[in-house]
Amino acid sequence: MEQKSVVVTNGTQEAIYLIAKMLLKPGDAVVMEAIGYPPVRRVFVSLGVKVYFVGVDNEGMQTAQLESVLGKQKIKLVYLTPLHQYPTTITLSQRRREHLKQLSSTYKFAILEDDYDYDFHYTKIPPKPIACSSNNAFYLTSLSKTMFPGIRLGFIACHPMFLAALREQKALISRQNDCLSQIAIAAWIRNGDFEKHLRRMRRIYDERYRLIIDTLSAWKEELAISFEQPNGGLSFWVNINRNADKFAQILKRSSVLISPESEFRFRGKESTHVRLGFAAMNMDELSKALPLLRIALSKLTPS
Ligand SMILES: Cc1ncc(COP(=O)(O)O)c(C=O)c1O
Repeated sequence: MEQKSVVVTNGTQEAIYLIAKMLLKPGDAVVMEAIGYPPVRRVFVSLGVKVYFVGVDNEGMQTAQLESVLGKQKIKLVYLTPLHQYPTTITLSQRRREHLKQLSSTYKFAILEDDYDYDFHYTKIPPKPIACSSNNAFYLTSLSKTMFPGIRLGFIACHPMFLAALREQKALISRQNDCLSQIAIAAWIRNGDFEKHLRRMRRIYDERYRLIIDTLSAWKEELAISFEQPNGGLSFWVNINRNADKFAQILKRSSVLISPESEFRFRGKESTHVRLGFAAMNMDELSKALPLLRIALSKLTPS
């Protein structure tokens, strides 16, 4: 791997803002996945940047579509979530990773690789980050999933040539990060307890992951739903083949919050999927919530 510089940030959100401020000016254009993470889009819009959207399928971002956008429009930056696409959970295939890197060298755009849930894998060893083999890629991650969002601790790993400009941006908005939490976490890592925490969390999430797979698999035929088993992460993306907004409203009445596709979709109007996140629910809560999902599904006719 090439040598990288690391900039500690107040989570991924600040990292994206810093990079966007450094690289973009109003009127520039960027690309995001057509179904994705709204807080990042808001950063681009706030900076007066034009956002183009590229579709996602069962191999992740459709790089052929990206290539056709690049043929028509100068793109400065591409933001994506390649490990577990947010919210569809799909891992970007090796073929598409190579294509993306090749496009980035040809068309000279930066890649923002948001690796928000890198610690949680259940089925196979994850692919190496794109940033390991591309000088154009900024690797971003944070402890928001590994610990909790309020810790506000993340980092950018990128080519050292960007370090000075990133530091300058960081000095303008927050100067530095809280050093007490960094000192505490560094000690936690050194004494081995952080590893223990990770192992424990992986066990806990794996248990929830398996419960959801078993439950959804048992419902598949009868309730006409479908889903791809994610390789990792903390959520499922389920095609309920029904109006997902109505489904979310029904569940809200029983105090179960579920995010319908429309919350993530930037292009198009389809809303038949829901994001079923399991980070914030323990096994007991999940066991109570899942039957409510079943009841809500049975109240709606499949399309
Ligand atoms: C796609 C994505 N990126 C990044 C993050 C983490 O953001 P932050 O580090 O600012 O808390 C999340 C958290 O939900 C996320 O879903």
